[in-house]
Amino acid sequence: MKNNLLVIISLLFLAGWSGKAQTQNKIVVNANDGKYAISKHIYGHFSEHLGHGIYGGIWVGEDSPIPNTRGIRNDVTAALKALQIPNLRWPGGCFADEYHWQDGIGPRNKRPKMINTHWGGVVEDNSFGTHEFLDLCEQLGCEPYICGNVGSGTVEEMSKWIEYMTFDGESPMANLRKQNGREAPWKIKFFGVGNENWGCGGDMFADYYADTYRRFAVYCRNYGDNRLYKIAGGPNTSDYEWTETLMKKVGNKMNALSLHYYTVPKNWSDKGSATLFDEAEYFTTISKAAFMRELVEKHTAIMDKYDPQKRIALAPDEWGGWYNVEPGTNPGFLYQQNTLRDAILAAVTFDVFNQHCDRVKIANIAQMVNVLQSIILTDNEKMLLTPTYWAFDFYKVHQEATMLPLSIACAKYESQGKSLDAVSASASRDKNGKIHITLTNIDPNKPQSVSCDLLGVKAKNVSGRILSADKISDHNTFERPNLVAPKDFKDAKLANGNLSIALPAKSLVVLEITE
Ligand code: AHR
Repeated sequence: MKNNLLVIISLLFLAGWSGKAQTQNKIVVNANDGKYAISKHIYGHFSEHLGHGIYGGIWVGEDSPIPNTRGIRNDVTAALKALQIPNLRWPGGCFADEYHWQDGIGPRNKRPKMINTHWGGVVEDNSFGTHEFLDLCEQLGCEPYICGNVGSGTVEEMSKWIEYMTFDGESPMANLRKQNGREAPWKIKFFGVGNENWGCGGDMFADYYADTYRRFAVYCRNYGDNRLYKIAGGPNTSDYEWTETLMKKVGNKMNALSLHYYTVPKNWSDKGSATLFDEAEYFTTISKAAFMRELVEKHTAIMDKYDPQKRIALAPDEWGGWYNVEPGTNPGFLYQQNTLRDAILAAVTFDVFNQHCDRVKIANIAQMVNVLQSIILTDNEKMLLTPTYWAFDFYKVHQEATMLPLSIACAKYESQGKSLDAVSASASRDKNGKIHITLTNIDPNKPQSVSCDLLGVKAKNVSGRILSADKISDHNTFERPNLVAPKDFKDAKLANGNLSIALPAKSLVVLEITE
């Protein structure tokens, strides 16, 4: 109620009631009202056997001249560790529903080869399999999120994979694991029972998948103290019928329901270029990214009917911008550049997830390295960090922090007769009591001055970083890897408990406030 009043006063202020010509934006952060933790798993990643997502991007093999630890490149793991990546989804995607895990264990030179039918029809030699993936997760200190094969696999195959990875004792699969050099079982928490089962994961109707899920899930056993967190294949975008059916028929036999939504600026046959776009296309991209809010809210409303206690999470485990591949690259490899537009797309998406953290508890951007909206691009021994990497870096302060509700009354960014809120934001208080606010000015032309009230905070100090660039399409290349990189931000000032921020056009800012 108090917050609503503040928003109304702020709107009047925006409408010119104050008599000031300057555009003003008002944010009210209520630090007394924090109820929910922002799960760190909202900041999860995804690596599929697709193009150079794994091979070249992560896995170079033990004999490579590229510095590596047991075949996994060191530069990439160092960059990922700095980002505190919380979980990694693997091996797909569509690839997961054609993957037979037993082909990816044992001596590498004896592993069978297969065709990667979805992604360029290339030969997959299975040199990166279960042991290599779980070694990667151990090197990163992140939770593995394994996606099992429902589309073309069997219940037996899936149940044996879980036994192989997690059973501590005498059993055919545990013995096989030991034979392959791993004595102790791994801990596996996140397990996907299929992927896109309405499409590449079996082309099923919701009813049929719900029954199939129930059958597979029975044999996804918890061995010892390992507890699986089962994620059901969820809806495509706004297929609310799918959510309704799964909630009705599967209910609490799943821990989470996935959701896939990609931001495609134009259409699926000509998605638009990753780097060459005009302002109208930029506007469309960000408004399509912002559609995530409606998706999360509408799927949540259905889930609330069946699960008012919010025990079952919504897991947007594939999201991000999907553009035309870079000219001259294999169309099946989905290699695309990444601009400041993508960092803004990511920030707007994170704000939706943070603000709905009572239901959204795990999410995965597609994909981590060299595929779609990547945070890292590699070219043989070279590596660069994309603007999306820096968006993750700015937002990592929210991992496991208490979400602080905020209200925003802001200017509009207008284009083509349509408008979007110019400012997007999230706030949280971490376990050391520090308050972090991330703010994004999506307007590529106009700076925004923001006045921020911090209710329940005795703010003493503020410091920050900013990500921006001359052009919204600016991006890092192997020749200029630091064109878009963070800088110190000095335009946030505290006076009498009020925070004022001068946000440049097309910028992301992270602020740390101490009391
Ligand atoms: O991320 C690329 C593909 O997009 C995934 O394999 C699939 O699940 C989705 O359609």
